[in-house]
Amino acid sequence: MSVKKIVKYGASSLRVKSKEVHKISKKVQILVEDLYDTLYALNGVGLAAPQIGENLRVFVVDVGTDPKTMNPITFINPKILKKEGAVNSYEGCLSFPEAYTNVRRYKYVKIKALDIKGRPFILEADEGSLLARCIQHEFDHLEGVLFIDHCRNRFEADKVLTEKGLDPVNADFLLDEKELEEQIQNNPPQEEK
Ligand code: NI
Repeated sequence: MSVKKIVKYGASSLRVKSKEVHKISKKVQILVEDLYDTLYALNGVGLAAPQIGENLRVFVVDVGTDPKTMNPITFINPKILKKEGAVNSYEGCLSFPEAYTNVRRYKYVKIKALDIKGRPFILEADEGSLLARCIQHEFDHLEGVLFIDHCRNRFEADKVLTEKGLDPVNADFLLDEKELEEQIQNNPPQEEK
């Protein structure tokens, strides 16, 4: 339908817990189309509804790298069923233009959601794949959580953010992820992008 303006870091709406979708109405269908249009226009891999100004529990991902491997997946009212392992990943977000930093993520994630037709499905993503990370990142947006809340090094993250003209990390939102951090430290670090 149309390419939307991305809500940027600093906006209070990115910190709100989004609401469940009760009916997959025409409005929700248009929202999903707008999410894909905006995602592809910006060459992203995932986009959540709050990032285009709708605080609803909807996100889309497509980790396909070229038109031949396109793999759009729509998640409505997602629930994370299981998460395991830990990985250190280099991450960014369309709401933080050009700012990338190291974050802690689970290696494996199992998620349940509804598709655009309202049909439930379960998906598993593992080995710290781009899909696994993307799902966790976009799911976080629905909870008002941002990738920098998972940063491994606050000072490094602050440096990157300020270089890009963005606000520094807000310590009130930093997540305590001791177990994940220990697992990362006990395994050879995987630097992925
Ligand atoms: Ni994001």
